[in-house]
Order: sequence, then C-alpha cells, then structure tokens
Amino acid sequence: MESLGTIYKKGTVRKLKKWLGYEPSDPYMKFKEIDFFTELLINFKPKKCLEYGGGLSTPFFLKYLPEDTHWFSIENNAKWFDIIKDKIKSDRIHLSLVDVAENIGQDAETDNYVCHAETLGGQFDFILVDGINRENCIDMAAKYLKKGGLLVVHDANRVQYHEHIKQFKNWKIIQDFRKTAGGFALASNDLDLDDLVDWKRHSRLWKADSAVSNFFKFKFIIGRKKSFKLEQS
Ligand SMILES: C[S@@+](CC[C@H](N)C(=O)[O-])C[C@H]1O[C@@H](n2cnc3c(N)ncnc32)[C@H](O)[C@@H]1O
Repeated sequence: MESLGTIYKKGTVRKLKKWLGYEPSDPYMKFKEIDFFTELLINFKPKKCLEYGGGLSTPFFLKYLPEDTHWFSIENNAKWFDIIKDKIKSDRIHLSLVDVAENIGQDAETDNYVCHAETLGGQFDFILVDGINRENCIDMAAKYLKKGGLLVVHDANRVQYHEHIKQFKNWKIIQDFRKTAGGFALASNDLDLDDLVDWKRHSRLWKADSAVSNFFKFKFIIGRKKSFKLEQS
C-alpha cells in the first residue's frame, strides 16, 4: 500500500537509475499505477492473461498471480521483441511477434495484431491493452474474454479510447493530471468492478498526486490544468 511519499521516492530512484543507464524491469507506469495494478491482479487472480504490447515487466506481474497463471503477450516491434524474449524467459510467459506491415487502415475484425488472440485460443480471464491499435483491441476484447473476464486499458487518460470502453456494460475510467499517457480503464460485460480494488484509497492518492503535479508545473496559472477524475457506468 503506497503513500504519496513512497511513490515520489520510488519515482525519483527510478529516474536516477534510468539516467545512469539501467533499463527498469518494473512496468512502464507511475508507481501509483503499479500500486493500483498489482492490487487488481492480487484480488482478481486471473489464470489466462493476454497483454497487447510486451514489456520487461511480465515477471513482475507474475509475482502477484497464481502459480498456474499463464501470460500471453502480443508484440509488433521485432527489435523490441528480440530484446524482451531473452530477458523474460519463463514457461509461463508466451510471447508472439505479429507483423503489422499489411495492417494499415484495417478495422478491428481484420486487424491481424488484434486477432492473433484467436490463435492463442481466445477466452482469456484478463486482457491488458498497452500496445498499438488500442481502439481495435478494445472493440474485440469482449469476444476474447471469458464470462466474468476483465479488460484493462492503460493510458486511459487518452480521451479517444473512452467511447470504445463505454461500449461495455460495466466500466470505470480513472484519470490523473496527464493528457497523453497514464490512467486506467476497467471494463467487463458481466463482472462487478466495485470490489476489484479499493477505489476510495486509490482515488485519494491519485487526487493528491494530480494536485501536487499541477501546482509544481504551474498548470493552474497557464490554464492547462487537468484534474483527477473517476468516471463509471
Ligand atoms: C508501453 S510498453 C508497455 C509494456 C508493458 N505492458 C509494461 O507495462 O511494462 C508496450 C509497447 O511499447 C513499445 N516499447 C516499449 N519499450 C520500448 C523500447 N525500449 N524500444 C522499443 N519499443 C518499446 C513496444 O513496442 C510495446 O508494444
């Protein structure tokens, strides 16, 4: 359970390490988002997971999941795929490289990056959208989720994803002070989202972080302030 002090401390240490040339193995997320996401994984305990957009953090996620959980990851960037495939080797991690050269302009049903989920058997407990073509990934997620399955979209601060997320029966979008990155959306057609995380605690932390950031970046003076927001179906 994080406080404002610990998320700032961890963020500063990570920035320093990056500056010194270390590649971080924790998720490409702010620490308040990692806190939110790990609590979600611990509570939800999915067994078959799909991630659009691979990273070095899968072993980090698996620490919080049951021992028989399998994590499938779809990646489009061949250079990045080569880097991560050796670094995150595990018999519980299944990485797929999908060539999207022919994909430009295709819609969700014919997007071979998105539809690669079918070759992995579909029917996932959990789908994380954190790569390319996110609108298409969201539009097809209901098809690839089991009954009671959960979709999570990272970078839900981006408003262009919202109409797609709101197609689900149940959805929540938690946003902070950023406009082009960060934030989460949770969505499902048949799962109650209320008890998946402690929404009150995370809202307090995200709200405080947004207020501090807007203050130190003087966004309230230049009129570019964006505040914390939790929207739900
Ligand atoms: C946004 S990252 C997130 C990965 C993972 N879900 C996480 O939280 O750590 C996913 C995408 O970013 C791209 N990416 C991330 N780091 C990269 C790097 N150092 N070089 C090239 N592409 C990178 C990859 O193509 C990948 O599909």
